[in-house]
Amino acid sequence: AAGCNGAMSVTGDYPHRCPNCLDRPERGPATMTSAAQDHEQQVYPPSPEFVATANAGPELQAAADADRLGFWATQAQRLDWATEWSEVLDWSDAPVAKWFVGGQLNVAYNCVDRHVLAGNGDRVAIHFEGEPGDSRALTYNDLLAEVCKAANTFTDLGLVAGDRVAIYMPMIPEAIVAMLACARLGLTHSVVFAGFSSHALRSRIDDAQAKLVVTVDGQWRRGQAAPLKPAADEAVADAASVQHVLVVKRTGIDVDWTEGRDLWWHETVDKASAEHEAQPFDAEHPLFILYTSGTTGKPKGIIHTSGGYLTQASYTHHYVFDHKPGRDVYWCTADIGWVTGHSYIVYGPLSNGATQVVYEGTPNSPNEHRHFEIIEKYGVSIYYTAPTLIRTFMKWGRDIPDAHDLSSIRLLGSVGEPINPEAWRWFREVIGAGQAPIVDTWWQTETGAIMISPLPGITATKPGSAMAPLPGISAKIVDDNAVPLGAGGNGYLVLDQPWPSMLRGIWGDMDRYKDTYWSRYAEEGWYFAGDGARYDEDGALWVLGRVDDVMNVSGHRISTSEVESALVGHPAVAEAAVVGAADETTGQGIVAFVILREGVTNTGDQLITELRNQVSTEISPIAKPRQISIVPELPKTRSGKIMRRLLRDVAEGRELGDTSTLVDPKVFEAIRAQGK
Ligand code: WTA
Repeated sequence: AAGCNGAMSVTGDYPHRCPNCLDRPERGPATMTSAAQDHEQQVYPPSPEFVATANAGPELQAAADADRLGFWATQAQRLDWATEWSEVLDWSDAPVAKWFVGGQLNVAYNCVDRHVLAGNGDRVAIHFEGEPGDSRALTYNDLLAEVCKAANTFTDLGLVAGDRVAIYMPMIPEAIVAMLACARLGLTHSVVFAGFSSHALRSRIDDAQAKLVVTVDGQWRRGQAAPLKPAADEAVADAASVQHVLVVKRTGIDVDWTEGRDLWWHETVDKASAEHEAQPFDAEHPLFILYTSGTTGKPKGIIHTSGGYLTQASYTHHYVFDHKPGRDVYWCTADIGWVTGHSYIVYGPLSNGATQVVYEGTPNSPNEHRHFEIIEKYGVSIYYTAPTLIRTFMKWGRDIPDAHDLSSIRLLGSVGEPINPEAWRWFREVIGAGQAPIVDTWWQTETGAIMISPLPGITATKPGSAMAPLPGISAKIVDDNAVPLGAGGNGYLVLDQPWPSMLRGIWGDMDRYKDTYWSRYAEEGWYFAGDGARYDEDGALWVLGRVDDVMNVSGHRISTSEVESALVGHPAVAEAAVVGAADETTGQGIVAFVILREGVTNTGDQLITELRNQVSTEISPIAKPRQISIVPELPKTRSGKIMRRLLRDVAEGRELGDTSTLVDPKVFEAIRAQGK
């Protein structure tokens, strides 16, 4: 990527790296140089062999172009409906969509029962690989029995359709069972990543008023049994909404127990009846809430509903991954705590009768061979992961994957952040034997399912480009005035037509929903995604990254203000500013600048450690700043706005950009002196 300049300003305050030069963030003019454009000339067409058996053919786009809503109605037929819908889309209450109006279905029935009824009960649904090396295969028959037992237990606990259940669990099959049991009963689940702190769990429990929390005694992490129940205990202490805590014994470590409130999974679910008849629910029945970071400190509870969500999760999983049930072994390395785990571990693959790998642990436990051993062991054919992990593999060296037989792999996927072309090529070459198509899938918690991606067997891909909206999806790249941009112009990514798996709102805050996503282009009625993007000369779409105060660290969305408020929560801190700085492995790293209160004398490493721990406790270890600099002042505009752009320049070691609007440009000499 030499010669590719680091900053591609969309507009305003936020410089955006072109995905070509993640590794070389240098500041330059806001256009790409010819060296960068060289990347755009490289095209990888699908092989004739792949085309011959691909799920997607050219008729898909043609059908969507001819009749978009009719196309989605056809895709909805992938599912079993108890009652047919009367209208495909009702957009009269925009921006709250109703898809498949009047239709009724049961999401869990579609993910489990119907495969058993079709005679595929003996097919493995989940190959579970525990971190300590234990493994377990669950067939669709097994999964059905487990989900029914859990559903009967939840019912015995008094839960009824519409109630909320918080799921705070590592990657073990019971987590998936708990989600499906909720779906089966019309309970709305709120999965909280097990890496989040008790504080973060508590605020999510309170916001959704969850009645049940499902958790574990502990989880296996890097060879250790790490307790999790204490965090759940802390979170539910005096949480008025919570009636029960259901605990899976995963590690066998000691736990505190609150009689009457706490229940063991093995003493309840395992003993419950495996018979349970699923009732249908309305297509718009809320399926789940998933909290994600926005531009303010308070996470947003993104609401997804049933029929449209499952339609698009199923459609995209089938076509984007070219998934062949009964033949492929699919592995999505995400965690169920994120939307990728919801749509591409639970609902998409299971609705399609997939056989998949679920792995509990980290990629380097007990050593860096783990993922490749798993691919070899199960014959994984579709492998879907994140750029940050690919770059980590690159750092570990190709000897490690080369020591394994990865010949089962036939398709690779990437999600979570722009993938730099170097990582893309390495992925294809080293993991995909120079042949596997790569699908670079752009989407968000809010979109529910993949929106922009190559279609294997159809699209000639370019390393680093998500290529084009899928059939049935419509996107535009526009400027501040809503004018669509042609080739080469950097603009904002908007979705100009509603889609089936779109969010239906923010839990308890519909004003924020409208304001966050629909006010920017209110007149046009477009959804503002928060990402910058551009088209190249060939019409390929390049996603450039966030244009707001949301950082992307190892594919995790973290808001700058969330980290700032955690830091300011420490008694020594008067003010904090946080930026995402380019990071070779994680995409972005969190860099914080803090001003201390008068009279604070403890300013050494110990304070820095305390501050990092503070963020860890308030949010999660994943939000710990990579670097914290204590500074005498923060750069502000005359209107008092912190100039993050300049702080990012400092954090990335660049020459300062335009400082003319600063109150006191000299403040930087002091910041630089401290910031090393
Ligand atoms: C970023 C994850 C470029 C983007 C599914 C988006 C991507 C945010 C890609 C959503 C991609 C995700 N190329 N950027 N293929 N995929 N992003 O909600 O900035 O955790 O807005 O959903 O991740 O993150 P979220």
